Amino acid sequence: MTTPQPATCPATQHAGRPAGTCPIHQQAAQFDPFQDAYMENPSEFVRWAREQKPVFYSPKLDYWVVTRYQAIKDIFRDPITFSPSNVLEPVGEPSPEAAAILKEYGYAMNRTLVNEDEPAHMARRRALMEPFTPEHLRKHEPTVRRLVTTAIDGFIDDGRVDLMQKLLWDVPFSVALEFLGIEDDSDRETMHRFSIAHTINAFGRPTPEERANVAHTVGQFWQFSGEVLEKMKRTPDGPGWMRYSIRQQKDFPEVVTDSYLHSMMMAIIVAAHESTSFASANAIKLLLEHPESWADICKNPLLISPAVEECLRHNGSIGSWRRRATRDVEIEGVAIPSGARLLLVVSSANHDPRQFGDPDFFDIRRDNTVEHLTFGFGAHQCLGKNIGRMEMQIIIGELSRRLPHMRLADQTYQYVHNLAFRGPRGLVVEWDPAQNPERHDADVLHATQEVRLGAPLAKHVVRDLKIASAQQVADNILLLRLVSPTGTSLPQWTPGAHLDIECGNTGLSRQYSLCSDLNDHKAWEVAVLNDPESRGGSSWIHQHARSGAELRVRGPRNHFRLNETPAGRLLFVAGGIGITPIMAMAQRARALNLDYEIHFSCRSRCTLPFAHALQQTHGARLHLHISDEGKRNDFDHLLAGLKDDTEVYACGPNRMLEALEAAVARRGLPDTCLHIEHFVNSVTILDPDKEHAFDVELKNSGLTLTVANDQTLLDVLRANNIDVQSDCEEGLCGACEVAALDGDIDHRDSVLTTSERRENTRLMTCCSRAKGQKLVLDL
Ligand code: HEM
Ligand code: FES
Repeated sequence: MTTPQPATCPATQHAGRPAGTCPIHQQAAQFDPFQDAYMENPSEFVRWAREQKPVFYSPKLDYWVVTRYQAIKDIFRDPITFSPSNVLEPVGEPSPEAAAILKEYGYAMNRTLVNEDEPAHMARRRALMEPFTPEHLRKHEPTVRRLVTTAIDGFIDDGRVDLMQKLLWDVPFSVALEFLGIEDDSDRETMHRFSIAHTINAFGRPTPEERANVAHTVGQFWQFSGEVLEKMKRTPDGPGWMRYSIRQQKDFPEVVTDSYLHSMMMAIIVAAHESTSFASANAIKLLLEHPESWADICKNPLLISPAVEECLRHNGSIGSWRRRATRDVEIEGVAIPSGARLLLVVSSANHDPRQFGDPDFFDIRRDNTVEHLTFGFGAHQCLGKNIGRMEMQIIIGELSRRLPHMRLADQTYQYVHNLAFRGPRGLVVEWDPAQNPERHDADVLHATQEVRLGAPLAKHVVRDLKIASAQQVADNILLLRLVSPTGTSLPQWTPGAHLDIECGNTGLSRQYSLCSDLNDHKAWEVAVLNDPESRGGSSWIHQHARSGAELRVRGPRNHFRLNETPAGRLLFVAGGIGITPIMAMAQRARALNLDYEIHFSCRSRCTLPFAHALQQTHGARLHLHISDEGKRNDFDHLLAGLKDDTEVYACGPNRMLEALEAAVARRGLPDTCLHIEHFVNSVTILDPDKEHAFDVELKNSGLTLTVANDQTLLDVLRANNIDVQSDCEEGLCGACEVAALDGDIDHRDSVLTTSERRENTRLMTCCSRAKGQKLVLDL
């Protein structure tokens, strides 16, 4: 490939610097990921790029480096423009000496799944994916637990162990062998050597001498893989995914070729094993570095699945992944020539603030953590992600139950320098064996832990918060100030977000918009109206919420999002307690210097919360409409003088919202200008007699699935390994939202507004369906 010219540096242009002196260019010129700093924290290593130069050319690597979330996701989404053919390609100059050595062993590593182009890849993936579905994976759970338990039994009384040596290397290796169907009679030392050599060969940059050694080991690994494959071919009806592939070869000889089987045998042992070993080590290290999160999962094992996901986001085992451009293309405005190699720094994408609020904050209850790219995305997304998740959950579950008191020992971490797989070679922890819970309570050994094969369930992502104060701020309105019981910071949230508060053991939970100061990271505030028409939630809170008490909450979650770059004016309309989300939105609009007005209606002054504070902050931008004082909000009058580019955000009683919708229609404003927050409860029960089956085409995954009349779309997606979060599963919370690209949606939820429904661009998968025969989804 000819070396392309570096893209023009925007800093040189704008700051008027002479060419060659731009500090950003210098960082691009010096970029070299084969060092500890990259392995320890790749996202920090490229922070400068993510912030200032998201796509840059690295002359040392001869790769274009991409660092932001959306660009990387879009690249994964398009395997035709961005071919995966270079995923396992050695980095740097080819070495004739190494090539000669490999030839001696008959080495002919070719396409597997991960580096195969379309259309061959998708045909192969479809033929081979069944053993990866949750239904088939469940049967491996007892083996994983037995392996983990036996390993922990071996060191539980020692007080100190290198977890990598005694648990995290071996267990994923044995699980990989079982899944693949390989008899576990291998010499672990040799396999460890094979594994490291393959990683260095495909993703590292060895010196010429190392390259020769690595070539010998890789050659031996290739031969070993061939022998295992030949043995399996003699017993094709036996267990495991590789034998399943051998059987599928009979039906699809063009799709599942011999070259594929041999190459896959070698690549998958490493892919299934190193990725999970390192992911588990990184996760345990991160959790022990955050003792409050570790304590939380020790106390509540339902948090383990969400914690695993946040660990994969924050400190995953994949630093970067690769693609090659198949045509001239632009990424984030930078021209990339056809044939260019791309390094996608997925760990940087996972820390992109445009995607993950407060991205460096480690929050095991993060709302959208499952959107991380550690498993890739789209057609090639990791097929084994639910095996990896299962192993990590069981490893962390057993450790947190049996060794909740373990801590990281003082140590220096060492890494195998390479572009892709990242994690420490050793992880030493220590504890006082006298404190082992099982010495005092035998039940610890028998406790069960739920393993989640798929995206975490939002309903398990609970947070215990302390009520710092409960203060009456107007008639029947209680303002609750919630803090972490240990005094730690709370995650940032965005205006319009709400919390779900559980009402003790009543089984009720209610949604309340956050209304605190956006800059206060120590507390969240919600205001609760004791509504006489409520079904018991708000009155429970009024009776039980006292300063010092604890509440269980979920969220924050936001489906009433503020457009921070509006074309025109923002009009905030609130009725009564509906002022709560509007307060945060107005605070943000003021901070961004946007043009806005607040229209706040209430029955009487004594039912009017927060009026004084709002007046002080927003002055003449605040308009009060108090019915008792003869000042009702006349929506026709209000909208009459507005320009068509005004955006209206409204929250309040249904009657008020309906009146506003009607006034918007009369005024002839586009209904997309109206954003409404309403917390309506409705029940969505699936009645198979009234439903019809429909197809869903998943644009990025390359699959078409059928949703039968007695299934929800969410059920079908999950059964096919597609990650979608869920919480209420009744169309109330917005957790299961996905984007739709085509087809008429039959909306059944209470989350989307009328105008959002008409846009036909998103739907709640737990309840909504197709009006016709087919939907196309952005999944
Ligand atoms: C592909 C990560 C565990 C099997 C991938 C890819 C990544 C990845 C980044 C490429 C995705 C893309 O190009 O979009 C991980 C991580 C794991 C893990 C972080 C553990 C935490 C496993 C396990 C197995 C497995 C346990 C098998 C038992 C595969 C396969 C592919 C793949 C077969 C190729 C899929 C395709 O190209 O169609 N994995 N992996 N992985 N992974 Fe994993
Ligand atoms: Fe709550 Fe679907 S899971 S709306």
